[in-house]
Amino acid sequence: MMPHIALGADHGGLPLKQDLHPWLEAGGFTVLDVGAYEFNANDDYPDFAAAVARAVASGEVSKGIIVCGSGVGASVAANKIAGVRAGVCHDTYSAHQGVEHDDVNVLCLGSRVVGIELAKELVSAFLSATFTREDRHMRRLQKVLDLERQAQ
Ligand code: RB5
Repeated sequence: MMPHIALGADHGGLPLKQDLHPWLEAGGFTVLDVGAYEFNANDDYPDFAAAVARAVASGEVSKGIIVCGSGVGASVAANKIAGVRAGVCHDTYSAHQGVEHDDVNVLCLGSRVVGIELAKELVSAFLSATFTREDRHMRRLQKVLDLERQAQ
């Protein structure tokens, strides 16, 4: 069984989430879909970002994907949850390097920025990457975790 992935989107990201969900399952991933499940122009990205981020932080899932209009609001909100390292990645290098060097565990995408085919490549790069645990990356991650602790 492939790892469990949390997936969420506000109204801005809903079209892309609706395409990504079945594609992820067809690829063998089990998907925890936290919504939105239907279009509501008044829904708010922090609600879905928090649901994905909490599932990642609790260990319920190994990685998360959040889609909003730009990916920016989703990343800002998700990074408020301790234990989450979220990044907007609209190029494949960042999508895998963010995991390999920075231990990013939530990928944020902008449905108004990338189309479904690029989104699939970004998600593939993100999900197949692993943190290298090299000394310099461990040291830098530790400093990030120290900053997180100081903020609490
Ligand atoms: C919603 O209209 C839009 O503002 C939101 O999805 C996102 O782009 C925020 O970063």
